[in-house]
Amino acid sequence: MSAGKVALHDKIFSIYISADEISAIVKRIAGEMESELVGEQPVFIGVLNGAVFFVTDLLRELQMNCEMGFIGVSSYEGMVSSGEVKLNAPLQMDIKDKVVVLVEDIIDSGRTVQWLIKELEEKQPKSLKVATLLYKPDAFKGDYKIDYIGREIPNDFVVGYGMDYDGLGRNLKDIYTII
Ligand code: IMP
Ligand code: MG
Repeated sequence: MSAGKVALHDKIFSIYISADEISAIVKRIAGEMESELVGEQPVFIGVLNGAVFFVTDLLRELQMNCEMGFIGVSSYEGMVSSGEVKLNAPLQMDIKDKVVVLVEDIIDSGRTVQWLIKELEEKQPKSLKVATLLYKPDAFKGDYKIDYIGREIPNDFVVGYGMDYDGLGRNLKDIYTII
């Protein structure tokens, strides 16, 4: 396989966003959060499995006291969203009256986060914000505000830095795309 390319299952992916660029994005978002959430002690909730690297890198950049939790959902099958969100791992912590930031790897149609907002609002947090590393504005159909966006991308399938194609590719340091 030539440099900057990776094979996963039946497809070849090319490098798209380098680890250095990801790191710069993560630092920028951490800075935005520090200034907006000053005086708070937020709870960051990473969406498993995709957001695991983003949330752990982000929290190590944050110069503030905070908590970390995870919630596990799935909606994708291969390269298309099934449209149905399944709860695989419920949140194992109390968020009542807390400042909560939901942390996603990528917001595509927006359905997963829409579903998660409903699920988390039932637990009566003080506030609920949404952060995502990547955002596909042309696919988005949600009706909520995304408070922190790492980078907008076109409607192309991506893998790496937590994101997978049928289970593979999550461990790649860079983000790759199908074209
Ligand atoms: P949504 O519900 O359509 O917004 O999709 C969100 C979820 O689908 C994300 O949490 C990802 O796990 C997954 N997803 C969306 N787009 C991609 C992609 O391009 N590559 C890998 N996973 C994706
Ligand atoms: Mg995800």
